[in-house]
Amino acid sequence: MDFVCAGNWKMHKGPSEAAAYIKALREMAQPEELARLVIFPPAVCAAAVAEGVAGTEIRWGGQNIFPAPSGAATGENSPAVFKDMGAKLALVGHSERRHIFGEPDEALAKKVQFLQSIGTTPVLCVGETLDDRRWNRTAEVILRQAKIGLTAADPTKPVWIAYEPVWAIGTGEVATPLQVEEAHSILRSFLLEWSSAASAVTPILYGGSVKADNVSSLAGLNNVNGFLIGGASLDAKELLNILRLSRDARGGKI
Ligand code: 13P
Repeated sequence: MDFVCAGNWKMHKGPSEAAAYIKALREMAQPEELARLVIFPPAVCAAAVAEGVAGTEIRWGGQNIFPAPSGAATGENSPAVFKDMGAKLALVGHSERRHIFGEPDEALAKKVQFLQSIGTTPVLCVGETLDDRRWNRTAEVILRQAKIGLTAADPTKPVWIAYEPVWAIGTGEVATPLQVEEAHSILRSFLLEWSSAASAVTPILYGGSVKADNVSSLAGLNNVNGFLIGGASLDAKELLNILRLSRDARGGKI
C-alpha cells in the first residue's frame, strides 16, 4: 500500500495563496514524491488547486460534500462538481464536522456511499475525545464511527480511513506511538472483518499535530499508511519535509 501525506488546509488560504503553494510544491518535489501528496483545500481554492496540480500526480479532494450531485442544499458543495474539476477524494466526518457542525454517523454513512457511487474515494475520519480516552472508550468510539460510517459502503470500491484523536487536533499534543499503533490495529482488525480484500488496499492515516519534529516516531509504525496533516501542511516545504522524513523512517519505502 502506498504511503501518503495529505494536507488538510481547513479554512486557510485563498486562490492566489493556493496557486503559489502548489507551484512551490511542484518545484521542490521529485516526480515520485508528487504521487504521495494529497491536498484538501477549502472549496473556494478548489479551482486554483485543480489548475495547479493539472498534469501532475498530486491528488486533491474536498473537505466536505453533500451526498447529491446538485440540488437545494444552500452552502454545500457538490461532489459531482468536485469530481468534474479533478478531485479524486473527499474527507468525510472530520472531527470539526462532527463536533462543530454536529454531523452524526448516519449522515456520514450516506456521504461515504454517495462518494463511492460516483467514483470518488471517501476518507472517513474517526477519533475519540479526551473524555472518551480518559474513560477508556477509545476502542468503542472509533469502532462505532467506523462501523456506522461504512454500513452502506461497498468493500470493492476504494475508501480510506483517517484516525484523528480529537484531543490531538490543533493542540500540539501528538498521540504517542503506542496510542497510534493501538488505535490503528483496532481499525485494521475491523477492516479485516469487514472485508479482507478491502483491508489489504485501505490505508489508515494518522492525524493530530503531525509535524516534522514528531513524524519520525510515527511513520514506521504498523498499520500507519500515511498522515493527515493540518497546521503543518500550510507550508509546502514543511509538507514535503514530513513526507521525506517519513520515507527515511520507513527505510526508504513510501
Ligand atoms: P493538526 O495537524 O493541525 O493538528 O490538524 C489535524 C487535522 O485535523 C487534519 O485533518
